[in-house]
Amino acid sequence: MTNDWAALGYLAAAILFILGLKRLSRPRTAVRGNQYGAAGMLVAVLVTLTDNSIIGFGWIIGGVILGAAVGVLLALRVQMTAMPELVALFNGFGGGASVLVAAASYTQAVDLAGDTSRLSSSAALASLIGAVTFTGSLVAFAKLREALRWSGFRGITVLSALGAVAAVVLGVLMVVDAQNALWLWLLVGVGAVLGLLVVLPIGGADMPVVIALLNSLSGMAAVAAGFVLDNSLLIIAGSLVGASGLILTQIMCVAMNRTLLAVMFSPAPTGTGGNDVDDIYAGKVRSTSPDDVAMLLESAERVAIVPGYGLAVAQAQHAVRDLMRRLQDRGVEVVFGIHPVAGRMPGHMNVLLAEAEVAYERLVEMDDINPTFEQTDVTIVIGANDVVNPVARTDPSSPIAGMPILDVDKSDVVVVIKRSLSPGFAKIANPLFAADNALMLFGDGREAVVEITKSLQSL
Ligand code: TAP
Repeated sequence: MTNDWAALGYLAAAILFILGLKRLSRPRTAVRGNQYGAAGMLVAVLVTLTDNSIIGFGWIIGGVILGAAVGVLLALRVQMTAMPELVALFNGFGGGASVLVAAASYTQAVDLAGDTSRLSSSAALASLIGAVTFTGSLVAFAKLREALRWSGFRGITVLSALGAVAAVVLGVLMVVDAQNALWLWLLVGVGAVLGLLVVLPIGGADMPVVIALLNSLSGMAAVAAGFVLDNSLLIIAGSLVGASGLILTQIMCVAMNRTLLAVMFSPAPTGTGGNDVDDIYAGKVRSTSPDDVAMLLESAERVAIVPGYGLAVAQAQHAVRDLMRRLQDRGVEVVFGIHPVAGRMPGHMNVLLAEAEVAYERLVEMDDINPTFEQTDVTIVIGANDVVNPVARTDPSSPIAGMPILDVDKSDVVVVIKRSLSPGFAKIANPLFAADNALMLFGDGREAVVEITKSLQSL
């Protein structure tokens, strides 16, 4: 294929990516957006395979078969609740791939004693950002799995600052002494350590920000790799990921009421916020039954449903939709209160509820629903904990201090469905469970909602 045809193919792929991204911004058009993106990727791969500089297809075909096999296996086997970790891992692999691409092109150029001065600055950026993204995403993956709760040691941020200075020095050396591949490998090593150092202390309520940031970094690493390869499509696709990831990072920062600098350099406290479980719960928690909840709902005019991570664990989205329909049949107004960081990935609750065909107009964002809780008769919290925890408003030492929450405690009655009094992701007790207007319905989210719907039917 001539360069002109290849450029045209890349242009078509880039247009498909942009159209896909646009459609992904609305649930109604999201499936079509995904198809556009996949079609763009197919065009991109096919055009790339016609590149005249490919000298053999053996390794490429081997890689495609291996990658496709792993991808299909993961897609079939991964639990819906493990999707956020998988996304974190994909970000990391994106960063790792950029490092390999940049390092291969750069070392090849050095070996051939070619002119590496054009490549060195972009190779330096791709290696550094890619390596930070790779190890940072592995730490994020482990934190999301709750396999890692260690948040580093005293002075870790000083070490990160030193690492950042070392990275800048190595980057400059790579440009100035462009014939020496050693600087590249040292930069990759420093970037890898920097990724660990920066992400380790971040935890608790700040995790959503770091996930979005790593997503953006994986795109930026791809942009730099695109400059190394002189591949316009990689530059465009990487820019789209980088820019949309940055917008998401900003949205997550606003959701947590934190600045990006504060998230990175003064992580939120990760302790228990000093709230003593016994003091908070002892003798104050009132439990209820599905029958009693059904009776409450029968006399309600407005009901809010607040989903959280436990909804995903229980796979209760279809049961919740059935409950909503039953209530609507009885003339009850039902809305869903969506917190931007509910669940474990951006848009987690929207995805689950869209899967169950809950109309998008029913989903009300936090800022819009909060002023309406006072006029809400019953709020049902299903598997949400941190995002409805009032200590965010009252305890500055809490890991979620300052995070805007859904003010469910302001409704007439709050029914909280969860299996026990265990804490949520931030590992802190929740005084909501002991509030005067709160009733706990202990049990699995899906089973509890099915029981409530059944009881409602028999009333
Ligand atoms: P969490 O605070 O994590 O609480 C989830 C609750 O679900 C738990 O308390 C658990 O209690 C309950 N649960 C688990 N399985 C259940 C089941 N089968 N049936 C019923 N309940 C079940 O969730 P949240 O309120 O959605 O808050 C999200 C948290 O994750 C925030 O701290 C946020 O910062 C963090 N985070 C979010 C993201 C993104 S991007 N959204 C990324 C990383 C971290 P039991 O065990 O007692 O049932």
